[in-house]
Amino acid sequence: MTDTVKDVTSGRNSRKVFIKTYGCQMNVYDSQRMGDALAQDGFEPTDQMDEADLVLINTCHIREKAAEKIYSELGRIRVLKSEREARGQTMQVGVTGCVAQAEGAEIIARAPVVDLVVGPQTYHRLPEALARVSRGDKVVDTDYAVEDKFDHLPRQDRRQIAARGVTAFLTVQEGCDKFCTFCVVPYTRGAEVSRPRGPILEEAQRLAAAGVRELTLLGQNVNAWSGEDAAGRPIGLAGLLEALASIPGIARLRYTTSHPRDMDDALIAAHRDLPALMPYLHLPVQSGSDRILKAMNRRHRAEDYLRLVDRIRGARPDLALSGDFIVGFPGESEADFEDTLALVRQVGYAQAYSFKYSPRPGTPGAALDDHVPEDVKSERLERLQALLRQQQLAFQTSFAGRDTDVLIEKPGRHAGQMVGRSPFLLPVVVPAAAGQVGDIVRVRIARSLPNSLMAEGAEALDAPMIEPHLRKIA
Ligand code: 5AD
Ligand code: SF4
Repeated sequence: MTDTVKDVTSGRNSRKVFIKTYGCQMNVYDSQRMGDALAQDGFEPTDQMDEADLVLINTCHIREKAAEKIYSELGRIRVLKSEREARGQTMQVGVTGCVAQAEGAEIIARAPVVDLVVGPQTYHRLPEALARVSRGDKVVDTDYAVEDKFDHLPRQDRRQIAARGVTAFLTVQEGCDKFCTFCVVPYTRGAEVSRPRGPILEEAQRLAAAGVRELTLLGQNVNAWSGEDAAGRPIGLAGLLEALASIPGIARLRYTTSHPRDMDDALIAAHRDLPALMPYLHLPVQSGSDRILKAMNRRHRAEDYLRLVDRIRGARPDLALSGDFIVGFPGESEADFEDTLALVRQVGYAQAYSFKYSPRPGTPGAALDDHVPEDVKSERLERLQALLRQQQLAFQTSFAGRDTDVLIEKPGRHAGQMVGRSPFLLPVVVPAAAGQVGDIVRVRIARSLPNSLMAEGAEALDAPMIEPHLRKIA
């Protein structure tokens, strides 16, 4: 017996797909759109890998560890697949995303459990590829398709959008032409391409009509987005944000990830002029040392970054920053690393991601001499993260006693509570009476917990001192 059930009403096979996503938000968005494409092909999503007829691993290639994780995951999948086969069921296995793009057929050679390898630019062709797999082929499709995949993907329907909640990602730009010497993105995601304004606005309108209140525009280099306004005049990301802000229902806008060199005057002004644009910006700098920035081909100095931060904060004084850092890039001395610490102290980050440099095959960085020993990298990472943690904590605790807006996203863990996010992306627990999912409410923060803020009123509900029967009354 197989668990492939005939859906009598549609006459189509209802099969189950399990999609696991690694890496950035762009992959999260891609996984959703692959799910949409497969739904049209009769697949239903499942969160149980062992009941899936199709398992897709949407991969990230940014650091070595990320790629290695994929191979251990494939090892576990091989076991599940044999268990299913022992029960007379089948399981097709696909690898998508950046590892797929970078390694292609090599993946099938190393992990024969894989039937299908599809790169990030071709996932609209997934149903076709699967049909070939069903005929017994192994399929590798890592072309840079000439057609725009977004034009060939089914539209998300209202129900799917609503199920995903009141915040949504929207990819507006892909690829990167910057060629930082440590980074594989220009090779895996290809050259910078902006989606045109029209289809972006249509997608945003559909999302808003289904109840989405907050949009995060995605792109590897999102602030390099360029397009034309309705009259055909060239516009940058600021112009796109302005158009999105006027869509009824859309109350909050964010964008990520940005390169310092593409923060133009119009975008800085948008942080002053567009209330919907949230005062939170992910602006990676990677290093605070001019020597290392040069070796990384970042094409700006530490001073340029600091001046830029001042200008953006001049436009939006409450702006909080998040960043990415790499320690142990080849040639990084203790003095270079201390320059990074100094920059972090000067900027003050609300949130940050920091990594040990990991040489990526085919990137110029990997060919450099003077690699920093692993233990030195670890020690530097530890010191940097201690500083960043301290800043993050200081940022979070600074909200105690202050009022903040919260977009309510879902019910909380305890009855009588809802959870939402502040403009600065911090989760906030609010009393259920404060509003419904999708409402933006103003609350006073009573206290700051390690991973969330507790609004007044919500706190009483969560206080462990109160007996359960009293908690209901509180
Ligand atoms: N090694 C370590 N970190 C890297 N990143 C990108 N490539 C590498 C690499 N080879 C980090 C950068 C980037 C983030 C997404 O991942 O900080 O901004
Ligand atoms: Fe990679 Fe640099 Fe492009 Fe960011 S800007 S994706 S770090 S090459």
